[in-house]
Amino acid sequence: MNESSDRPSIVLVGKDARTHALAVACAASPQRPRLFGLSEMAMPGLASECAKLITTGSLSDTSVVERIVEEVRPDLAIIGPEEPLAAGYADRLEAMGVPTFGPVQQLAAIESSKSWARRLLDRHGISGNPEYRLFTSDDGLAAYLRELGSFVIKPDGLTGGKGVRVHGDHFATLEEGLDYARLLLSTDGRVQVEEKLVGEEFSLMTITDGRTHIHCPPVQDHKRAFEADKGPNTGGMGSYSCADHCLPFLEPADLTEAQAINERVIAALERETGRRYCGVLYGGFIATRKDVRLIEYNCRFGDPEAMNVLPLLQGDFVEIAAKAAVGRLAETASSFAPRATVCKYVVPAAYPGPSPAGEPILVPRDLQEGRGNARWYWAACRQQDDQTVMSGSRAGAAVGIGETLEEAEQIAEEAVLRVVGKVRHRSDIGTRRLVSRRVEHMAELRGLPVSAERLG
Ligand code: AMP
Ligand code: GLY
Repeated sequence: MNESSDRPSIVLVGKDARTHALAVACAASPQRPRLFGLSEMAMPGLASECAKLITTGSLSDTSVVERIVEEVRPDLAIIGPEEPLAAGYADRLEAMGVPTFGPVQQLAAIESSKSWARRLLDRHGISGNPEYRLFTSDDGLAAYLRELGSFVIKPDGLTGGKGVRVHGDHFATLEEGLDYARLLLSTDGRVQVEEKLVGEEFSLMTITDGRTHIHCPPVQDHKRAFEADKGPNTGGMGSYSCADHCLPFLEPADLTEAQAINERVIAALERETGRRYCGVLYGGFIATRKDVRLIEYNCRFGDPEAMNVLPLLQGDFVEIAAKAAVGRLAETASSFAPRATVCKYVVPAAYPGPSPAGEPILVPRDLQEGRGNARWYWAACRQQDDQTVMSGSRAGAAVGIGETLEEAEQIAEEAVLRVVGKVRHRSDIGTRRLVSRRVEHMAELRGLPVSAERLG
């Protein structure tokens, strides 16, 4: 504990709605922590929750870590997004004696190198991989694409979810796929090619200290920009989770399988590196015709998925993060409320196309204060004189919490409609119509009947 106070001091690193949700979860702790935000932007959400918000040019630059540790002398650091983890923030913080919720650089490679993640599963005999190959030259590339027939082309590094191109969605022919793969080869020197998996995607986030695991309720994200899953991939337009902590298109066995894969990967990471993985392991899974497969791993909470699960957490998040950071997660108790959630992002009207920075956005005060069952989390916005303005990316997210998915969706939709500005959102996320389509798709793949009570 910091000597000058019996309240813990926490450095919270991030620049997005997920980090705002983390700040709110920390602020709800009975330990009444003093939060110090480190962000690229003076986001309204962090500014209001933090005792001080320190801005830095880039969250990939580790040189700021020493300065903030000397200034704040934190008891704990919590890192929201992937860039600072991939850059080695956790390594620097731990070297300075600050317990950190978030993996060190070597372990963050589970997200920052898609090929390393795939090979780790193979080396440790863990199921879930599709057919895949990493190319560092053109040799055999065209033949492999032909052999797969239907494939996905991925950059090997971090792309904010936007660099992946899928056959049938983003390109139609083998030649177009080949062109993109060659482009990545010429810019990055490597390209990951994978068999295209068909099914329904879900996110399973596991809070861990490397040995003890808290599995969050599974969430379904919506990456496509427009209604009915049309348009380009985005950072995520919204997401939902269900009160039974399963998803309407999943069998309980799918969830158990995904949880087992996460646990086996966490153990494999320790065997491979000798270091315990601490923080959140986010498995991006897909339930296919016959089993559960892995799309990718992330080394942190999902955005928007954090906004679904953190408001449901029953337990002291500061204690969970602090104990996870020192390998003592088993000493904590927590659970998630049996409620459904729907998160809808509000984005500038032209998103994901370029949007002018500086457009005003108005969010009603009671929504910002999180009264009732609606929540608001700020993303790419900043305070300018007496108004809040958008900086061009996703502006913020409204979350509805309800007994049923239908109720949660209505609360989220009503909240979003009260936001004023040149903005749009996906009104279909969490609706019965869209969720039924997912259930029907899965049933069709697996040859199962569709029943109404599946719809959350
Ligand atoms: P990622 O950045 O790896 O999450 O990929 C973005 C999106 O691309 C995923 O959410 C999937 O929709 C799609 N994707 C990635 N890999 C595959 C795959 N092997 N098969 C089918 N779709 C994929
Ligand atoms: N929801 C996608 C991500 O957090 O990467």
